[in-house]
Amino acid sequence: MTTTAVLIPGDGIGPEITAATLRVLDAADANIDWVERQAGVAAMDAGDDVLPQSTLDAIDEHKVALKGPCTTPVGKGFQSVNVQLRKAFDLYAAVRPVRNMPGVETPFSNVDIVVVRENTESLYSGVENEITPGVVMSMKVATLKGCTRVARWAFNYAKQRNRRKVTVFHKANIMKLTDGMFLDCAGKVHEQEHSDVDYDTMIIDAACMRLVQDPSRFDVLLLENLYGDVVSDLCAGLVGGLGVIPGANFGDDGAIFEAVHGSAPDIAGQNLANPLALLMSAVMMLNYLADRDGNDAHRQSAERIKKAYDEALTNGQKTRDLGGSLNTDEFADVVIQNL
Ligand code: NAI
Repeated sequence: MTTTAVLIPGDGIGPEITAATLRVLDAADANIDWVERQAGVAAMDAGDDVLPQSTLDAIDEHKVALKGPCTTPVGKGFQSVNVQLRKAFDLYAAVRPVRNMPGVETPFSNVDIVVVRENTESLYSGVENEITPGVVMSMKVATLKGCTRVARWAFNYAKQRNRRKVTVFHKANIMKLTDGMFLDCAGKVHEQEHSDVDYDTMIIDAACMRLVQDPSRFDVLLLENLYGDVVSDLCAGLVGGLGVIPGANFGDDGAIFEAVHGSAPDIAGQNLANPLALLMSAVMMLNYLADRDGNDAHRQSAERIKKAYDEALTNGQKTRDLGGSLNTDEFADVVIQNL
């Protein structure tokens, strides 16, 4: 059975890592019929909007996409394509699994954390104003609906995957209303629907210190949007960096899979980027499609790909960011040989 999915190569290293990922998926017989669409600077360079209607229509039709990173200008210019996409399709739960990888040495050997980030609210609401010259403000938004649904998502995920605990990071001592609501909603979902899952809460500054002292004490983390963005990268640093952290943005009616890292303009166009995080995101996508469509062939392809990249890393066949010497294409070649 062939599944149709949207492919957005993105900007910077996006087209390189997307091409490498597609080669691996093809070699693993992942039966995906790709509908390629543009977004970001690539779309603007082609004379289109930064987020073209044809891209939105394709995602709306097929309900699943694999996306490369998109560049967002700093301090000026258009609103992040990523933020726009997450809002357009109400993809409210961003999920980033962070685990030690074979053959990637780090100060910690026992990291197995899943970051669940609220994806549509908080300071990413895009409401920023200049009150008067020299005075600007940004609005942090929290709603009962938004806080409750992501908490429910995190507890459901924890239960389905047999995880032991959900921990909320917050700053409700200072942001009493917004973070207070996030915390209240998580507490209520725990108490009323998931009291069998362990639950605790930590103020985010102390939590970050504990994360870098002993990550093994954490399991599923539940965070509002900004904290989730920052803590995802912190967690990436615990296991070897952004090259090994996949991600997915889930809503009730679709999902977009993408690596946590950005478009890495410093190495774009040089065949140096690590395609693994996007490949791991594609594996997450195959498992999601296997569940969604009852298509076991997708799960088998996912399993083969995972074994193949684990074997590459175990044998020391890695890209430069992980201390190896392979370029983007060479790493994909090794994974394909291992399939
Ligand atoms: P970045 O993640 O692109 O790069 C940070 C550092 O990590 C750089 O030194 C880069 O070379 C390295 N790096 C990232 N991915 C890598 C990979 N696959 N292999 C090897 N090295 C890798 O973050 P930065 O520089 O803050 O952002 C660059 C652009 O990406 C910005 O325009 C930002 O808005 C955008 N961005 C897009 C995201 C998305 O589309 N989901 C997520 C994060 C940032």
